Amino acid sequence: MSNQAKGMHGIWTSRWTFIMAATGSAVGLGNMWKFPYVAGSYGGGAFVLVYLVCILLIGVPVMMAEVLLGRQGRQSPINSMREAVAASDSPSGWRYIGWLGITAGLFILSFYAVIAGWALDYIVQMARGDLRGADGEMAAALFSNLTENPLRLILWQTIFLGLCVGVVAGGVKKGLGSAVEVLMPLLFVMLLGMLLYAILNGNFSAAWDFLFAVDFSSLTWRAVLEAMGLAFFTLSLGMGSIMAYGAYMPADASIGKTVLIVALFDSLVAIIAGLVIFSIVFSTTGIEPSAGPGLMFISLPVAFGNMPGGLLIGVVFFILVAIAAWSSAISLLEPAVAWLMEAKHIGRITANVVLASLAWALGLGTVFSFNIAADMTVAGFTFFDALDFLTANIMLPLGGLGIALFVGFVMKRELVSGQMSEMNGTAMGMWRLALCYLAPVAIASIFVMGIYDKFFL
Ligand code: PFF
Repeated sequence: MSNQAKGMHGIWTSRWTFIMAATGSAVGLGNMWKFPYVAGSYGGGAFVLVYLVCILLIGVPVMMAEVLLGRQGRQSPINSMREAVAASDSPSGWRYIGWLGITAGLFILSFYAVIAGWALDYIVQMARGDLRGADGEMAAALFSNLTENPLRLILWQTIFLGLCVGVVAGGVKKGLGSAVEVLMPLLFVMLLGMLLYAILNGNFSAAWDFLFAVDFSSLTWRAVLEAMGLAFFTLSLGMGSIMAYGAYMPADASIGKTVLIVALFDSLVAIIAGLVIFSIVFSTTGIEPSAGPGLMFISLPVAFGNMPGGLLIGVVFFILVAIAAWSSAISLLEPAVAWLMEAKHIGRITANVVLASLAWALGLGTVFSFNIAADMTVAGFTFFDALDFLTANIMLPLGGLGIALFVGFVMKRELVSGQMSEMNGTAMGMWRLALCYLAPVAIASIFVMGIYDKFFL
């Protein structure tokens, strides 16, 4: 049986569909919401440079390893890992990487759906004109009205998860593949339209200087760690999504070149989103680039509410964010769905509904973290903070570290080189160097510093 035929879930129609799907997974709230505000908080240029270096030197090599593992196994991350571990005669503990990934994916999906729901709500608020002429205080009040209303949050969370179930139910080709083939080009067109608007109506030169004028004096050790963590999150690494998508990749596609294209698209979207958001934010006086998580839901709407045609552009912007979040969320659901189908021999639709319901129920913890349970904290964490911290700072780096070490040192060489046959010697040497040494050291430092920073500083 050929490796291509082994997968029970199907294969993407072409390499291009894989690129669109992986870009869809990578481009999400991490690019549109987190990157701009974190870059803003750390002073811009130098942070952006470190972030891009991390994507290239750590993200790309680890992503290649994940795709390789997926394509080698052609199953869900749990079973692909189990098979790779058995075929490499290595200790069975390595297979927990697959479990870790799928669990992290469901945890992230649970809170991702709630935040994506905010973007859906803002499409309506913008369309209704609620923010016309708004000032900072009014925008902040509108944001609290939303987050303090559990039923409204649950409504949007449910709608968002319903959209994800709808896509994943269609399967690899007709569901995920068809969706990303439409959504990704649409996302790029909308983003370029926003860029044009920002150049014409915003303060583009200030945004450019902010993102690209490098001043290393403002760069701290913590900022470097933050840049590494964000690079990881934005490329969807360490959680099984890219491994699951790799399982559906055509056998003849070059992993190295394909992953480089995905990383390039992902970085481009983050940079363009940053340019758009800061051009608009800088065009309105009195808004700080370091506004934090509220940058997108408070500062930006103020600017939209006061610019020519701003409300319409605001609708387009939040649709764009919702599409980006949607194409990421389906990649959080798919690995678990693939696993449940394999393990319990049940249909895709049943597996899909069961797991989305699980994410929905867990998501209620996040919903209540912003209102009725906002004061219920353990060690200063609300439920949402705890899940965010557990996934981003613990599960994700551990998964990425495990993958780098497993593919770098444990997996049988012929299995690795069998998937990388298109790579020349120099490229292979560089990849191994990054995967075996650079990435593990860097990831381990994020892990240790992340915990030290949170609990001991
Ligand atoms: N990469 C997505 C983002 O930047 O928003 C988030 C994400 C999706 C993380 C899928 C992990 C994942 F498996």
